[in-house]
Amino acid sequence: MEILILESKDAVAAFGAEIFAEQVRKKPASVLGLATGGSPLALYDKLAALHRNEALSFRDITSFNLDEYFGLSSTDARSYRHYMREHLFSRIDIDESRAHLPACRDDEDPWEKAEAYEAAIREAGGIDLQLLGIGRNGHIGFNEPTSSLASRTRVKTLAEDTMRDNRDWFREGEPQPELAMTMGIGTILEATEILLIATGSHKAPAVRRTIEGPVASVCPASALQLHASVTILLDPDAAAELELTRYYQTTGEHQARLLERWKRPD
Ligand code: GLP
Repeated sequence: MEILILESKDAVAAFGAEIFAEQVRKKPASVLGLATGGSPLALYDKLAALHRNEALSFRDITSFNLDEYFGLSSTDARSYRHYMREHLFSRIDIDESRAHLPACRDDEDPWEKAEAYEAAIREAGGIDLQLLGIGRNGHIGFNEPTSSLASRTRVKTLAEDTMRDNRDWFREGEPQPELAMTMGIGTILEATEILLIATGSHKAPAVRRTIEGPVASVCPASALQLHASVTILLDPDAAAELELTRYYQTTGEHQARLLERWKRPD
């Protein structure tokens, strides 16, 4: 795991956007894993700005979102499809027919839809770079605590604290879905590279358990310790409960020097 503690929330968004932009420049037909929630908003703003001002093109990109509320149509304003259109897709030149979310309406078979989502990821050649936020309870996607670390795409019941945290995304009186279709932890771990971003003091306990706790399904994000190429970008508030901060800084400095001397071809 590469842990980078940056000076601010804005620096996390800028650095994260640069990692995504670099991936797209290096491989214009990349398969990107995308996320929703508050954490990626500023990163998406920066990608939209790179598209507008520096002609960064997403024309050949294929994308797969981590999760989608269960039982909603693609035009429902509560859906993550709607969120993605508003915050990213409408602001870049992605071909939305290649932008996938694990949607499942009420009249569709969730098992079939879940298998089809997994198959679509495989057919696209797998995810090159997966973006993750983290829930206060350590969830990634909607893999709530005690999710199997080998899980695949399926329908999950949302935890009470997740429901509470996400309440603000819904209007007064609007029903809040209690179920979601989410990539599994096993699915997420198959991405070639993973980027997790977390900001704010409310994320500090989950961040500590993810990085310095044991690998355990009670903190689903701790499964990332099993992946060979994970970068975690934190602001000082989200990093506040880490114990090995000095070590992460030192390894970062050493890594930068090694990279400088032994540049790898792309
Ligand atoms: C949401 C999403 C996750 C997200 C997490 C954190 O419910 N399903 O993919 O990373 O919870 O959300 P936020 O970034 O709003 O704190």
